[in-house]
Amino acid sequence: MIKIEAIVREEKFEEVKDALNSIEVHGMTISQVMGCGRQKGYTEYVRGSKVDIHILPKIKFEIVVSSEDWANKTVEIIKKTAVTGNHGDGKIFVYDLMNVVRIRTGESGPSAI
Ligand SMILES: Nc1ncnc2c1ncn2[C@@H]1O[C@H](COP(=O)(O)OP(=O)(O)OP(=O)(O)O)[C@@H](O)[C@H]1O
Ligand SMILES: [Mg+2]
Repeated sequence: MIKIEAIVREEKFEEVKDALNSIEVHGMTISQVMGCGRQKGYTEYVRGSKVDIHILPKIKFEIVVSSEDWANKTVEIIKKTAVTGNHGDGKIFVYDLMNVVRIRTGESGPSAI
């Protein structure tokens, strides 16, 4: 089992969600997050207080899939839909996942996804 965490631009939310739906990825968790990438450290003073202007709102998708094939498909579709070519397009993190439990039934492992 593999967990994919993708941080994308806010304005790409609908497009990425629809694309995931189109490849029949069903379960997902979506959060509004704040973050920065390599441009961190660029700060400026705004009316006397120091502001880090590169901590920006982003959208985080968390998706768990059962196989490497599905993980590759998921990563590809997110890459394709979330890209603009400009700094700040986001990042995709891929993790090996130890276990999943469906609380209602008590099932665990891939059948609980
Ligand atoms: N190393 C990291 N660890 C955790 N989160 C990160 C990391 N890099 C980026 N992020 C998350 O992804 C978001 C977008 O990052 P961003 O696309 O700016 O990355 P970057 O490495 O600066 O690439 P680019 O040069 O294209 O801007 C950040 O706001 C942050 O939420
Ligand atoms: Mg950046």
